[in-house]
Amino acid sequence: SSTIQEEYVLPPKDFVAALPVREGWSEPLVQYNNYWFRPRLLERILLVKQDFVPRADDIILATQPKCGTTWIKALAFTITNRSCYGFGDHPLLTRHPQHVVPFIEIPAAGLIHTDIHTLSSPRLLATHVPMSLLPPDTRSVGCRVVYLCRDPKDALVSRLHFENKAFQGTNLSMDSAFSMFCEGFSPYGPFWDHCLGYWRESVTRPDSVLFLKYEEIKSDPVNTVRKLAKFLGVPLTEEEERSGVAQEVVRLCSFEALTNLQVNQVGRVRLGDNIFMSNSVFYRKGEVGDWANHMSHEMGDKLDRIVQQKLEGSGLVF
Ligand code: A3P
Repeated sequence: SSTIQEEYVLPPKDFVAALPVREGWSEPLVQYNNYWFRPRLLERILLVKQDFVPRADDIILATQPKCGTTWIKALAFTITNRSCYGFGDHPLLTRHPQHVVPFIEIPAAGLIHTDIHTLSSPRLLATHVPMSLLPPDTRSVGCRVVYLCRDPKDALVSRLHFENKAFQGTNLSMDSAFSMFCEGFSPYGPFWDHCLGYWRESVTRPDSVLFLKYEEIKSDPVNTVRKLAKFLGVPLTEEEERSGVAQEVVRLCSFEALTNLQVNQVGRVRLGDNIFMSNSVFYRKGEVGDWANHMSHEMGDKLDRIVQQKLEGSGLVF
């Protein structure tokens, strides 16, 4: 298709500057390999694709923004580090979940992890890149990937609020965000293609790719913790089951508990060399189905139909 680009050969800045651009969101997005990106981030992604050296014991948390990245970071961090920290003096009581798990493609995300190459193994990392742009070695060395997706209607509503809150001067309407999203034009979108890439991978390599939905964590968080622990190679022991460790993890990482902590109310998260976001912007309602308060049922039905058609035959349903 005409949207598929050649592999880049120029320095990333020049390459990205020559890509198709479209305006509409808080900043113009460029299209590369079917997906839409913020230009600066795409430069990083291209560099990472070339430079990132995956390790067999890496754990990669993959999401589209607004699908629950903050939540899955908190859960996976707590589960994999539970032998190091008690719940009474846990790092998440004083550090933002975005700080404790760095993004592969976003430099200096956090105060501590400045360079992911210097982190000791096993590394817990996050990414928003589509499966097709993950460095191919992540597959060959056998990194474990946890993908979290969400009902596209709720993801869109969350995205709209985030754009208007986090990016000064942006005042997008639901109608314009809706029509762009339905065309597949959204940051890291088309939304459905991002999900499908990881979904297919999870079907062919279920031991390496775990596919989760925000709604499923909401409806049975304790079971999700068990499932995650098992997938990540640190299953809950009988003793832990008896003492309610899964319930403790769920409580610590819950929307209510996190939003009550000062670290998640004030201060800023560093997401790039000169990019800061206020800590509170990663939390809004944390509910399933909030879309109905922001778009009409006709709009909801329309988006459902589009997504259904795009996912047809894949086995993935929302
Ligand atoms: P809403 O805008 O619908 O409230 P991300 O972390 O990928 O940017 O996603 C942000 C969304 O996840 C927001 O959704 C936010 O409120 C929600 N969220 C953040 N932390 C959460 C938690 N601990 N539990 C449930 N939802 C959470």
